[in-house]
Amino acid sequence: MIVNSLKIKNYRNFKEAEIELNDLLNIFIGDNGQGKTNLMESIYLTSIGRTFRLNSENELINFNENKSIIEVNLMKNNYNMKIELHLEKNKRKQVLINGVKLDKTSEMIGILNNVIFTPDDMKIIKGSPIERRKFVNIDISQIKPKYKYLLNKYKKICSERNILLKNYYTNTQNKDIINIWNDYLVNIGTDIILYRLDYINKLKNYAVNIYADISGNKEKFDLNYLCNAGNINNMDKDEVKKHFYDKINANFNHEIQNKTTMYGPHKDDIIIKINDKECKYFGSQGQQRSAILAIKLAEIEIIKEEVGEYPILLLDDVLSELDNKRKGFLINYIQGIQTFITTTDDHDLNILTKNYNKKKFYINEGKIGNITN
Ligand SMILES: Nc1ncnc2c1ncn2[C@@H]1O[C@H](COP(=O)(O)OP(=O)(O)OP(=O)(O)O)[C@@H](O)[C@H]1O
Ligand SMILES: [Mg+2]
Repeated sequence: MIVNSLKIKNYRNFKEAEIELNDLLNIFIGDNGQGKTNLMESIYLTSIGRTFRLNSENELINFNENKSIIEVNLMKNNYNMKIELHLEKNKRKQVLINGVKLDKTSEMIGILNNVIFTPDDMKIIKGSPIERRKFVNIDISQIKPKYKYLLNKYKKICSERNILLKNYYTNTQNKDIINIWNDYLVNIGTDIILYRLDYINKLKNYAVNIYADISGNKEKFDLNYLCNAGNINNMDKDEVKKHFYDKINANFNHEIQNKTTMYGPHKDDIIIKINDKECKYFGSQGQQRSAILAIKLAEIEIIKEEVGEYPILLLDDVLSELDNKRKGFLINYIQGIQTFITTTDDHDLNILTKNYNKKKFYINEGKIGNITN
């Protein structure tokens, strides 16, 4: 898919900007604090509906304004589409697709598929399991609309079940009621586990080969889903459910003591290994960067496989984090994928993309200018 144009109004430090984009490579150059990440964030927002940063929605609107609009025109499956996002302080955001307002903003996920790579993504390797679950959740939601629905449902089930666990001995009926919540937990939880297992296996297939290429076939990459309800590899759906039930039944007293749901996909993790050693603890900086690069490029391939078209690729400030070999690998890989790159210094990029069809923009104090050379 291709984003043809972007229009933003009162978004972060941008007052008003409108740009026509290149089908392949778009490079945004500017000093620190000028609005490069803000611009990438605005495109990401039209894809996922949420920021990848920590801010609240109000903070996305220019400090001195009350309303902001982001609009992209894109080409997907040979159709022209328009996605509009209307933000207003202290109000729910509105999303319009081809001028028609969506009931739920989450319905926009999956229209403009994206893969984003920022220096912050190192937390997928180095951070807590929460970061890895967040990353798979966003990825799967983009390609499987039902997954987002299951996640929301599962979250509600956990919180209702936790209330019951907290007050378990206050009412004798709770012994029967907990069985109903256990059924919900196991049924929806198993669906989530199986979606994730399928995704991680696909990711692994691509990432293993990409990592081998990055390392010149010198190192071995591995990726596995770690289910806290037990080892469910090669199990069918009924077997996973049984395993999950057995786990909560065996540990029920423990759950009552802790007053919380202790087993299920909300506790699962993804284990990334290089040469059979966990990358989080034993990987060098370079190996960790290569691992995340392989994962990101594998994400692109899965979206292509599922959706039939490449997603757009957002690379915010990552080139400075990569050595020349990895930079070259990445730039070579993205040929044919519409990519948005931000950088403070385009010297290396100019050399690497010398013969590429591209467009360059200069960003300064929330204004965008074309660079023609
Ligand atoms: N709601 C807002 N209204 C106005 N300005 C904002 C708002 N939110 C953030 N900013 C400003 O945007 C600027 C940061 O922009 P951004 O993060 O895009 O910079 P950058 O070009 O990516 O810089 P770097 O190279 O350091 O990453 C800051 O000066 C910040 O004060
Ligand atoms: Mg930035």
